[in-house]
Amino acid sequence: MSETPLDKLDETEARAELARLSAILAKANDDYHGADAPVLADAEYDHLKRRNAAIENKFPSLKRADSPSDLVGSTPSDGFGKVQHTVRMLSLSNAFDESDVVDFDDSIRRYLGLDQDADLAYTAEPKIDGLSLSLRYENGVLVQAATRGDGGVGENVTANAKTIADIPHCLENAPGIIEIRGEVYMSHADFADLNTRQQGRGGKPFANPRNAAAGSLRQLDAEITRSRPLKFFAYSWGELQKPLATTQHGAIDAMKSLGFQVNPMTKTCANPSEMVEHYQHIEAQRATLGYDIDGVVYKVDDLALQGRLGFRSTTPRWAIAHKFPAELAWTCLEAIDIQVGRTGALSPVARLTPVTVGGVVVSNATLHNEDYIAGRDSFGEEIRDGKDIRVGDWVQVYRAGDVIPKIADVDLSKRANDASPFVFPETCPECGSDALREEGDAVRRCSGGMICPAQAVERLKHFVSRAVFDIDGLGAKQVEQFHQDGWVREPADIFTLEERFSTGIQQLKNREGWGEKSALNLFDAIRQSRAVPLGRLIFSLGIRHVGENASNLLARHYGSWAGFEQAMLAASDFDGPPWEDLLGIDGVGQVMATSLVSAMNQEAEQASIDRLVALLDVQDAKQPNTSDSPVAGKTVVFTGTLEKMTRAEAKARAETLGAKVSGSVSKKTDIVVAGPGAGSKEKKARDLGLTLLDEDGWLELIST
Ligand code: IVH
Repeated sequence: MSETPLDKLDETEARAELARLSAILAKANDDYHGADAPVLADAEYDHLKRRNAAIENKFPSLKRADSPSDLVGSTPSDGFGKVQHTVRMLSLSNAFDESDVVDFDDSIRRYLGLDQDADLAYTAEPKIDGLSLSLRYENGVLVQAATRGDGGVGENVTANAKTIADIPHCLENAPGIIEIRGEVYMSHADFADLNTRQQGRGGKPFANPRNAAAGSLRQLDAEITRSRPLKFFAYSWGELQKPLATTQHGAIDAMKSLGFQVNPMTKTCANPSEMVEHYQHIEAQRATLGYDIDGVVYKVDDLALQGRLGFRSTTPRWAIAHKFPAELAWTCLEAIDIQVGRTGALSPVARLTPVTVGGVVVSNATLHNEDYIAGRDSFGEEIRDGKDIRVGDWVQVYRAGDVIPKIADVDLSKRANDASPFVFPETCPECGSDALREEGDAVRRCSGGMICPAQAVERLKHFVSRAVFDIDGLGAKQVEQFHQDGWVREPADIFTLEERFSTGIQQLKNREGWGEKSALNLFDAIRQSRAVPLGRLIFSLGIRHVGENASNLLARHYGSWAGFEQAMLAASDFDGPPWEDLLGIDGVGQVMATSLVSAMNQEAEQASIDRLVALLDVQDAKQPNTSDSPVAGKTVVFTGTLEKMTRAEAKARAETLGAKVSGSVSKKTDIVVAGPGAGSKEKKARDLGLTLLDEDGWLELIST
């Protein structure tokens, strides 16, 4: 049917056209989700949606209550429900070569205080390249399946998971709560079939089996998931009412008996050389397995030892992923662009002639910083035999796992005679301010701060990102647009959007891409996000070196926003008790503390933060659930040699019980635990009349 051009439509025709478009687009949505056989091609769908929006823009009063503009893409904007994981879903730290594996074993022995000849077994199993899923069974019935999400909160994909043949709906003889975790993946053969079907329908093919598995599991309609052949390997667990076994390999056997698929290449190894031998064996089988793996995971076999080793912020101490070497390809470096990040870092990006590396098309690679381009590392040592990188060069690109592509090498024989070395800019390409390099910093940074639009935008993107404020309907794209139009210049402006743009001449609902419903939903979501835990607020500020884990440590230490802010102001001269107190937090070092105190004492920064906090309802930090703990809230100092556990383990245990562990003794210290060889700290504890315990006394105290 031919379409009347927009400028020829009168009001009556426009009303009829909007009704027609709404019906066609609603049906297209139903077809897409219901039948997995879209009737409209993507391009036609997009064209009709754009025409609908253009008519609405010309005749705002005609916009329908069921306007297609209020649907994000073709999926309802409410998405999946959220699931709070009762036991966090973590990731793994990486090993890249044999020496990293030996270091892993050494560090575990050190932590546990085991000497080299003590028995210490590990399991070694393939690292499946898919996406992790947690399955919760209550009294033997599958009640919930959740993706990892940010580790703390995932998406509820129960209906979808139930369509996967490898996932039992019921477990026999499994009373109480059992959470089984593992990897959802797609085999190579099923991936190839799916892509053939997709392309046959004019759809976009998936880049690799992992994307296909993720895209298939995260369908809003479970029937689409059912039509995608997904598989599942169980390898881990979350909440359990009763332990599965006393060893990792025993737990795997138990999961197998419960009816799960477990990977047949799992092996128990007695030492690092057996682990590496099994790694090589798995690597040799890799091409014939029929599914993607990207390394081998080693885990301490004894679950009691796993318990003692515990976790760092996002990874367990008792496991590591030994990754396969990166995949490589040669291509031409067409240009070097400079991007400005949230903390003002000027990051060079290589624009490449697209090339396939390990099944994924790569057109950009990171160049890190100016030294890296010049052929030096951060210590001034040569990399790539000192070869610099120039525009027009023939370069070797590699990808390792999820890591963004990098450049491994340059082919000098292909370099043009007139190619000149890359000159790194000394002013910010976004705002023109000086870009400076501080001593000891490999990175050149824009000195423009909040006046630099790139920094402001990146800061806002960080602020609304999933791990931070995660406001429904306000993602990177929207906040960037609001910034461009001057609606939102700093985080505080988000919380006054409703006041400024819900009524009046300029209204959110009249903006392209927005409607009455989506605007109301956004205002609602923003209002709800005003209540924010202290740790998240600190993380939201985007201060350099202050990540999510550190923010939570700071929150737990200072308790409230007022306490935190006062302490940061009081530490402004980087000296004295508040500064020492900050440095005493386990996990906070000089670099982070300096960055934090500098940012919190910078005038413009401070004013912007104050404007934000005034609009929020900041929740004090929850102390760990330590109601039974005799040391909750106490400040403890360990000194001298500990004989029953290492210092790291002692610290971690004390913190789990709600104590603060400090490195120096002061009037604020409650308990000093002194082992043999303790010197001045023990004396100071006596002088101050503090509680002084030996290691046994401490263990007795915390076992009560
Ligand atoms: S154990 C507490 N074992 O790798 C850590 N993870 O890079 C539990 N993965 O998020 C993870 N195969 O999605 C474990 N055999 C395996 C795995 C495996 C794949 C994934 C998992 C994890 C990611 C970390």
